[in-house]
Amino acid sequence: MINISGKTKIVGVIGEPVTHSRSPQMHNAAIAKLGLNFAYLPFEVKLPDLTTAIQGLKALQVVGVNVTIPHKQNVIPLLDHISTEAHLIGAVNTLVFDQDQIFGHNTDAEGFIRAMQEEAHLFDLLTGDVRAVVLGAGGAARAVVTALALNKVTEITIANRTVSKAVALVEDLEPKLLHTDLQLSTCLTSVEIQSSQLSDLIATCDLLVNTTSVGMGNTAQVDLFNLGCLSAQTIVYDIVYTPPVTPLLRAAEAKGCPIIGGLGMLVHQGAIAFEKWTGIEPNIEIMREALVKSLGLSAKQEKNK
Ligand SMILES: NC(=O)c1ccc[n+]([C@@H]2O[C@H](COP(=O)([O-])OP(=O)(O)OC[C@H]3O[C@@H](n4cnc5c(N)ncnc54)[C@H](OP(=O)(O)O)[C@@H]3O)[C@@H](O)[C@H]2O)c1
Repeated sequence: MINISGKTKIVGVIGEPVTHSRSPQMHNAAIAKLGLNFAYLPFEVKLPDLTTAIQGLKALQVVGVNVTIPHKQNVIPLLDHISTEAHLIGAVNTLVFDQDQIFGHNTDAEGFIRAMQEEAHLFDLLTGDVRAVVLGAGGAARAVVTALALNKVTEITIANRTVSKAVALVEDLEPKLLHTDLQLSTCLTSVEIQSSQLSDLIATCDLLVNTTSVGMGNTAQVDLFNLGCLSAQTIVYDIVYTPPVTPLLRAAEAKGCPIIGGLGMLVHQGAIAFEKWTGIEPNIEIMREALVKSLGLSAKQEKNK
């Protein structure tokens, strides 16, 4: 139970809409568990009001906010500093207001990796020369490709229905990766999602990640992805989190592949933001429980992930 007092610090989420956001439940559960004098609130901000809203949050000494659609890119020119991940991804999902400065981060990439690290035995498989196929070229794909490149994955193929978007992602990200201090040399390529070339790549890749919205709400369109050739050695990671076990994951599991669902990424990207605002590591299980409850999933469904 959160007690509001004169000393309560405010964090929250800005977006339009924000009513669907599960972040208030997830963060307030973590705040309550730690007994912190913080409260996490949703702020609906219309696009023309973004600059005024950011100035207002700063003036009100809000500690930080998550940023969601449609502000993840538009907020960047309003910031004093942007993290390497956010620069590579080209989007910000977390702001920290600190001593008159505004810092922009993107916690999706690290959230994707931390969720994978939870399955330590799977993460350890991804050492040496690793070949990954990423399905999709939207906002989430940018975070996933960045995460994999930062973790020195050797080859990443981005497969998208609208192939021009995959080409654009490669053209934007490749030079940026080369120009970081990290001297990243991941080979990025793009391909059309239903091409025979993709089947060959899926057959031999170490990691297959779905970042398309296919499978959300159980829409059974896995046949889109040429899974016939999938090998049991390939780790299949679907970042879609409703349902926790998507049709893609079910198909991969039936082939004997190790699988990872999207709930972990959602929890961890939130936990990283929480740490940036409070300086304290939140209880991941409490956040996961709150998320599962807010999504209306049963514990059994979630455990089946
Ligand atoms: N677990 C997490 O923490 C997390 C975080 C972020 C996002 N997500 C999930 O990731 C998914 C994508 O999010 P996003 O922000 O990247 O969305 P987005 O920017 O709108 O991108 C959507 C992607 O899905 C593809 N797509 C949509 N319908 C398709 C279909 N019928 N056949 C083939 N491809 C199709 C799009 O291809 P085109 O370019 O051809 O349209 C595009 O590549 C959502 O389900 C979201 O909930 C999860």
